[in-house]
Amino acid sequence: MPPKKKSAPSTKAIDTLLDESRKFKPAASFTRQANASNALYKEGAANPVKFWEKMAKELVWKKNWTKGLIWNPPDAKWFVGGKLNITESCLDRHIKEGKRNKAALIWEGEPGDQRTFTYFDLYRQVNKFANVLKSLGVEKGDRVAIYLPMIPELMISMLACARIGAIHSVVFGGFSPDSLRDRINDAEAKLLITADGGWRRGQIVPLKHDADVAIADCPSIEHVVVVKRGDFLLRFKEGRDHWYHRLMQEADAYCEPTVMDSEDPLFILYTSGTTGKPKGIMHTCGGYLTGVYATTKYVFDLKEDDVFWCTADCGWITGHSYITYGPMANGATQVMYEGSPNWPDEDRFWQIVEDYGVSVFYTAPTAIRSFMQWGREWPDKHDLSSLRLLGTVGEPINPEAWIWYHEVIGQKKCPIVDTWWQTETGHIMITPLPGATTTKPGSATRPFPGIEAAILDENGKPVKKGGGYLAITKPWPGMLRGIWGDRQRMIDTYWSKWDKTYFPGDGAKIDKDKYFWILGRVDDVINISGHRLSTMEVESALVEHAQVTEAAVVGVSHDIKGEGLVAFVTAARGTATDDKLVARLRDFVARKIGAIAKPEKIIFTGDLPKTRSGKIMRRLLRDIAAGKIIGDTTTLADPDILNKIKARYEED
Ligand code: PRX
Repeated sequence: MPPKKKSAPSTKAIDTLLDESRKFKPAASFTRQANASNALYKEGAANPVKFWEKMAKELVWKKNWTKGLIWNPPDAKWFVGGKLNITESCLDRHIKEGKRNKAALIWEGEPGDQRTFTYFDLYRQVNKFANVLKSLGVEKGDRVAIYLPMIPELMISMLACARIGAIHSVVFGGFSPDSLRDRINDAEAKLLITADGGWRRGQIVPLKHDADVAIADCPSIEHVVVVKRGDFLLRFKEGRDHWYHRLMQEADAYCEPTVMDSEDPLFILYTSGTTGKPKGIMHTCGGYLTGVYATTKYVFDLKEDDVFWCTADCGWITGHSYITYGPMANGATQVMYEGSPNWPDEDRFWQIVEDYGVSVFYTAPTAIRSFMQWGREWPDKHDLSSLRLLGTVGEPINPEAWIWYHEVIGQKKCPIVDTWWQTETGHIMITPLPGATTTKPGSATRPFPGIEAAILDENGKPVKKGGGYLAITKPWPGMLRGIWGDRQRMIDTYWSKWDKTYFPGDGAKIDKDKYFWILGRVDDVINISGHRLSTMEVESALVEHAQVTEAAVVGVSHDIKGEGLVAFVTAARGTATDDKLVARLRDFVARKIGAIAKPEKIIFTGDLPKTRSGKIMRRLLRDIAAGKIIGDTTTLADPDILNKIKARYEED
């Protein structure tokens, strides 16, 4: 039996973040062996383009570039004229350079099944699957949707697409059929790769079943390839659906890598924006690979005998950059795990660290807060002495969680790299360099060498004191090249606030040592467990329900998830607004978007606070949900409505 759960950690640390003054100098023993030194900062600052060109030269190119960068804001071209196929850097070169029999991927399924792939195994699988894709008519530039659990075939599928120049669009397996459908249709994907199912907390996730629902409305899909993960029930549509293992039996062992331009697209990954429609963020081959390669090498300090484990899912950017591409381009050995961290018990992660001797571990603050809540007795049961470096990503880490991570998991000897970046940035942007940078709990510290960032005010003036907007002031290799099918949206979202400067949508402050402290999103995008979600998207889902007339959704701080959702809902006339309706609406949102989007609370209200022109004033609802004094209400059409909602909220 698991021990009694402890109470949630205090969130007080978030409030006092601005006063945090603890500092952690790198240990001399780590510094001595580190890949990065302070000289790297100097090199990056002296000439960022030259710095990135040096990094790119460590990859395999078919033809050299003629110019490092052409910058026509907001369009950047990196390694112009260069030709490559990125799978040669991730696979071919390793099997030629002595890593043929090195473990590339050590995979563990949630039920405990295990598979290990050497570099040669992975190379073989990727080549064969690339031939399978070709045999099903996939060509360079075609879009392929991938809806898989965290199994090796996910990485193999991504790399196989890259091998033939097809653009992959991975959709997180926890997303609903509706979310999958919208993403497939937006990208007009020709082929879908899915599985009969996957495992999550001992339950089967019926991926093929959900995919069938989705593709009933996806006219572009010609073929579906199904990986057999278990003995799960499914329906097959003759001619359209194919078993992965059958196709692989017949596939040729070698597939000539398609020669790609440095600026050809590599993948699309959808992320939430401030409107209901997800944005298909586009990344290209040369710049993206250079960025993920260099950051993996220097931020995770990878060595030949390290065992790297990034706990993200490949459905998110972290899994793209720091599972599929960065570690593979570095020839690393890595662990991949299918399931949840508390299955069957709260020490599953620590068991994995111990079993495989994980040495570099990368996870999210939300996971760390869960570990804290479950109690240190779980990690304490295991030998974690193989760990030498820890990382976090996805949201600000509160200093108390940082200290817990340092003391309980890192046993006070592992540096922590708190890495700030986004789907759009492609790779880590602000981070300590382990062994070189003194860390401060809660601060992502300094821009990675070759990256220039600043804190600006509304007018683009540098903020000297206090908070402002985070800005990236120079182009970088992994930067997004566009939003699929919507160039204007890319310009409006990221490049319109200031001149020639990227706006990531985060607030931040800078301290006297020029360290960056990320304060979170400044738009209507909230961050649940390190995953971005648009409150608009959840509102759209709610109002689709027949018993909902209107809905406003806001983010509130949450002890474990960082942020959670509160929905204020006006129900259709005559509807009983009881617990059953709450449950139905929560399930409805999960079905429409995914379980991650379920509101923590649903408050029914006769009306929503609106301006005289009918705009919902979410700012006021945010104040109610946060228990704050309600802000300026002068533009409100009916001030009385607020008191009613507040009373209802406090009652709940
Ligand atoms: O708000 C920032 C937060 O996550 C956002 C990016 O989300 P996404 O594109 O889903 O990518 C997550 C994984 C890279 C950012 O705009 N964020 C990410 N890392 C950090 C962070 N906030 C604070 N500190 C971080 N280390």
